[in-house]
Amino acid sequence: MLNLHNYLTEKKTFIEQALPAFLPTRGVPPLLAEAMEYSLFAGGKRIRPILLLATIEAFEQDPVKGLPAACAIEMIHTYSLIHDDLPAMDNDDFRRGMPTNHKKFGEATAILAGDGLLTEAFRAICSLQDQGIEAATVLPIICELSKFAGPQGMVGGQMADLLGEGKQLQLSELQYIHHHKTADLLVFCIRTGARLGGADEAQLEKLTRFARNIGLAFQIQDDILDVYGDEEKLGKPVGSDTANEKSTYPSLIGLEQSQIELERLIVEAKEALAEAGVQTQVLGALADYIIKRDQ
Ligand code: IPE
Ligand code: IPE
Ligand code: MG
Ligand code: MG
Ligand code: MG
Repeated sequence: MLNLHNYLTEKKTFIEQALPAFLPTRGVPPLLAEAMEYSLFAGGKRIRPILLLATIEAFEQDPVKGLPAACAIEMIHTYSLIHDDLPAMDNDDFRRGMPTNHKKFGEATAILAGDGLLTEAFRAICSLQDQGIEAATVLPIICELSKFAGPQGMVGGQMADLLGEGKQLQLSELQYIHHHKTADLLVFCIRTGARLGGADEAQLEKLTRFARNIGLAFQIQDDILDVYGDEEKLGKPVGSDTANEKSTYPSLIGLEQSQIELERLIVEAKEALAEAGVQTQVLGALADYIIKRDQ
């Protein structure tokens, strides 16, 4: 029987032990290195790298080979949080239970710490080659990291999120934001895990459908926790979306309908997962966790 709590703890430790090797500090101005490490090692659930490694395992392959990609995506995610919290964006003071990067180091250093993590992530992911993975497999992964994290992906979603402030968006517009600002990084993780696991095109397509559904669900739950969550557990302030006049799932369709939508997305995700022809136990449990989580 799978104990998900133990699984999450074990994988989090595994990732946190691997991360420092991908963030060399030699030749880096000490303040910049400190600011990058401050946010990267502040904790966090590490759900994106966990999804990546769990997808490799779903193909009964050794997750170790995915570590460079797992660490790269956590660096990109952390950069996105540092920039997301800036006064010009969501203007938040707490993250992962600590003062936000700009509160601690000032805005200019926070911007550069984000830039540093973003660029270092591309070097980290190149280390997939040191795991004996062929360039023909590594290259499309690097291209997709750029696509899903960049202007067609997360950065584009963040732009749309900012442009939507102060407006009541259509649900389809909010879906666009959530798919890009949040789901796209999860899609990258699962597609990369699948590629490293040896997926064929059909499996990649099914697992992408799984990822899009859990990715959207992840952000809906984040919206819900911004209203109903516990700051202590979340390690970040609640009420940020209301303060910034953001459209969210609870603000557009209410809590009850949001929860119905969450259940529907997880059912759809699991249908796609069942069709992918891989081990489903852990990925299925992670899908459930995403909508039940309180942090
Ligand atoms: C927060 O992500 C930002 C979103 C995209 C919702 P997480 O909830 O994964 O934050 P950490 O990494 O655990 O701090
Ligand atoms: C953040 O969405 C998405 C990214 C950081 C790309 P939110 O703005 O809702 O995330 P939190 O709630 O600040 O973690
Ligand atoms: Mg935001
Ligand atoms: Mg935010
Ligand atoms: Mg939020």
